[in-house]
Amino acid sequence: YLAKGLQLPEWFSRPAVAEILNETNPPKFRQGLTIWFTGLSGSGKSTVAHALVERLAEFGRNVSLLDGDEIRTHLSKGLGFSKEDRNANIDRVGYVAGLIAQHGGTTLCAVISPYRVMRDNARKSSKGNFVEIFCDTPIEVCEQRDVKGLYAKARAGEIKGFTGVDDPYEPPLNPEITLDTSKLGARESADAIIKKLIELGYIL
Ligand code: PPS
Repeated sequence: YLAKGLQLPEWFSRPAVAEILNETNPPKFRQGLTIWFTGLSGSGKSTVAHALVERLAEFGRNVSLLDGDEIRTHLSKGLGFSKEDRNANIDRVGYVAGLIAQHGGTTLCAVISPYRVMRDNARKSSKGNFVEIFCDTPIEVCEQRDVKGLYAKARAGEIKGFTGVDDPYEPPLNPEITLDTSKLGARESADAIIKKLIELGYIL
């Protein structure tokens, strides 16, 4: 309306328009956002993230997905699973998500990110527009799923430093959402996240 110099309809109040057009302090639903899934291998991070991509599209949020396995074949190619390499990996993912957030985009990150301090750094990179989702699926369930057969290898000692087996995982202290995917399906989990995002003002 404004661009074409047209009269605004009466029901469209001027303060509301002013707020929507205020680029310095746009409402949350117009700000960038990082949705960060953390949890053990097999805890459902990627599955729920994929389900959420579809749901967010319905709300007009255009989303990029940074998935652990894929990131490690591109952005973090060559990195291993030492503490140093994991931190470098998370640093990169957090940096990219932060950049996208700065430009008003939404990024879903699905990475084990076992160290709390690195997740907190990622939160800072996104200037606090950050929703941490803890996939708190019991390790027994993750291990039973063992989609890639990695738990079996780790238990047999063929893989060293496997998260949750012989490498640390520091659970979040204050995640915005905690999910147990042994109890909730992907669609239900995505719905629970959508509900929270509405509560937080990130979607309308
Ligand atoms: S991290 O710790 O955040 O840098 O890990 P991430 O980039 O998310 O990669 C996790 C996937 O790598 C596979 N994998 C391992 N995970 C944990 N520990 C060890 N040592 C390991 N080696 C390989 C594993 O399949 C993870 O995939 P997901 O999707 O999490 O199951």
